[in-house]
Amino acid sequence: MKPRYGAGPHSGVAISSTHEYLPRLSRVPVAHPQYTMALVKLCIDVPPDLAQGIGELLIELGAGAVEEQRAERGARLVVYGENEGELAALGKRARAGFEELGLEARDVNIDWRIEVDPHSDWDTAWTKYLVQQPLTPSWVIQPAWDQTPAPPRAGRIFIQPTLAFGDGGHVTTRMAARAVERFCVEQPGANVLDIGTGTGVLAMVAALSGAGKVVGTDIDPVALAAAVENAKLNGLEDRVLFLDACATPPFAFDLVVANLEPRVLLSIANDIAARARESRELVLTGFVAQQAAEVEEGFVGLGFGEMTRIECDGWCLLAFGQR
Ligand SMILES: C[S@@+](CC[C@H](N)C(=O)[O-])C[C@H]1O[C@@H](n2cnc3c(N)ncnc32)[C@H](O)[C@@H]1O
Repeated sequence: MKPRYGAGPHSGVAISSTHEYLPRLSRVPVAHPQYTMALVKLCIDVPPDLAQGIGELLIELGAGAVEEQRAERGARLVVYGENEGELAALGKRARAGFEELGLEARDVNIDWRIEVDPHSDWDTAWTKYLVQQPLTPSWVIQPAWDQTPAPPRAGRIFIQPTLAFGDGGHVTTRMAARAVERFCVEQPGANVLDIGTGTGVLAMVAALSGAGKVVGTDIDPVALAAAVENAKLNGLEDRVLFLDACATPPFAFDLVVANLEPRVLLSIANDIAARARESRELVLTGFVAQQAAEVEEGFVGLGFGEMTRIECDGWCLLAFGQR
């Protein structure tokens, strides 16, 4: 299972239905009643390249949250609901929306079913599917309770999965973590700022890779609390400072990294640029390849020059230097 969106029981990331931010990266937890019996879910199988767009469409159509899972052929989008009627209605609206968009039946396959799990805890049931995952050449990431030993020549980063995004499984997190590790190994003692820290994973990679001062910021108090908890789990509580995104860290950064949805990246581009003004590198990810040009243009317009572009599974990372 690969949690990506959602404030639901199995989710790793919340999508705000308020559209304050775009789906994948929003972190607005939605209050759910305690579901102790039936979990009702609507599953939609889609080609991976359509997953982001269809996830956004589902939110527009009223899904409170959407979770992406790996499916046999492509990706599976899952929406959890309170009752069948609610999800059936959403499924109907989704079908109509797909038709309107000209999506063929072969592209998307809507299927919904009821799962009953009387022992499930709505908030944490999804976490049982988490396993150790490779993060960078030197680090794997795994849930706090997972005792799987580290692979040869790698260390383990533990996280307590919560609704905050950042279980380490998403390709953007992996790409960013690798960029952070490379930079910190090449520039020991560098100060690193992780904007949109989520569970704190990138900030922790920086600290573990030899960074000097490390700050992670987020707009979401739930994410910040999770990040603090995770830093403690890894013995990094004295090495990483987590701050509200509005706070101004009292020093300059050699590396600024942000894994944020592109609309957010562009809406806070001036703030990011101000933080990265004295940096040697600015690493941005959280967008698909088709959105990279817009992100690039925005940051080139602010005086940055693109140095590296990495693509993986359709997702993109851009690294900039000063021009
Ligand atoms: C996709 S997650 C990234 C988590 C982690 N850095 C990673 O790479 O896995 C994005 C995070 O950015 C936060 N966020 C959204 N808008 C933000 C903003 N304007 N400033 C700072 N953080 C923001 C969200 O709350 C969320 O925790």
